[in-house]
Amino acid sequence: MSDTLQPTPADLSAELTLRPASLGEYIGQTEAKRSLTTLLQAARQRGEAADHLLFHGPPGLGKTTLASIVARELDVPIRFTSGTAIDHGGDLAAILTNLQPRQVLFIDEIHRLSRAVEEVLYPAMEDGHIDIVYGKGPSATLLRLDVQPFTLIGATTRVGMLSAPLRDRFGAVQRLDYYEDAELAAIVRRSAGILNVPINEEAAALIAARSRGTPRVANRLLRRVRDEVQVAGETTISYESAQAALAGMQIDDAGLDATDRKLLQVMVEKFDGGPVGVAAMAALLGESTDTLEDVFEPYLMRIGFLDRTPQGRVVTERGRAHIGRPNATLWGTR
Ligand SMILES: Nc1ncnc2c1ncn2[C@@H]1O[C@H](COP(=O)(O)OP(=O)(O)OP(=O)(O)O)[C@@H](O)[C@H]1O
Ligand SMILES: [Mg+2]
Repeated sequence: MSDTLQPTPADLSAELTLRPASLGEYIGQTEAKRSLTTLLQAARQRGEAADHLLFHGPPGLGKTTLASIVARELDVPIRFTSGTAIDHGGDLAAILTNLQPRQVLFIDEIHRLSRAVEEVLYPAMEDGHIDIVYGKGPSATLLRLDVQPFTLIGATTRVGMLSAPLRDRFGAVQRLDYYEDAELAAIVRRSAGILNVPINEEAAALIAARSRGTPRVANRLLRRVRDEVQVAGETTISYESAQAALAGMQIDDAGLDATDRKLLQVMVEKFDGGPVGVAAMAALLGESTDTLEDVFEPYLMRIGFLDRTPQGRVVTERGRAHIGRPNATLWGTR
């Protein structure tokens, strides 16, 4: 699959080094930071667990990072798990009954929890206990276990797939949005500092502009550019060296990679630009519909290359122009 946005093993280890450790170091997302600052301060003053938090938004924008920061700011441990790792109510019960007071429990991909597992979560979130049913029929017995006060932080790229009862139990729901170029440039400069490689302003701005509004991509491009520069025997990342390295990766000036361009091309060539259903598009790319909807579509739509209609997805005139296939009759009118 394309490596555009999914974290690779190299990303994950680098991300640990590059991950901001406090709200002060966390660049951008001003609105989220503002409301979190108040919420965390209030919880600290009361000496209570903070409200349950839900972070949603496209991959690589900093949901997991923010969860780690919340735990650190509250000075409590964080336990990481994921909706795909919890198969049965019993798995979650074991996690919940082992929490320390006021601890953060982070559930990534929380939209993947099954209904049965969600049912275990609800009373824990609301009333500080869980109910476990043993046996079936008339001989079934209910065991009620206490759970320490805790802060659940859920993360999802698919907030629409969350059940309403689960969503309603979060005290705060925070949407993370794509970053501005200036914010990404600041992230690139910060990361370059940590990686100990000098970079000039223009080069940082160039990498930022190619990063699809996404810190994970910015950090990945920076690392690849740094490798190229190092191998070339240079000591500073200049605009020219950054440009050459990005060209070598086939990242174009809109930040699209070969897979994005192939998607647009196939839609134009085989479907006259659409409308095309998601399943058909995914099949064309050899990707899952989830990856298509989470990873490729949001950015292509954000930059106005793709549109969503009730009949399916369509390539816009801008999208056509970008791949050098303007629609002759419409060109200039949209
Ligand atoms: N606001 C930020 N400031 C600086 N660096 C950031 C910021 N947000 C994210 N990053 C960097 O981007 C990397 C990816 O962020 P993170 O893993 O938190 O994304 P995510 O939203 O959890 O993605 P996914 O949906 O794939 O789980 C982090 O390791 C960090 O280095
Ligand atoms: Mg994450």
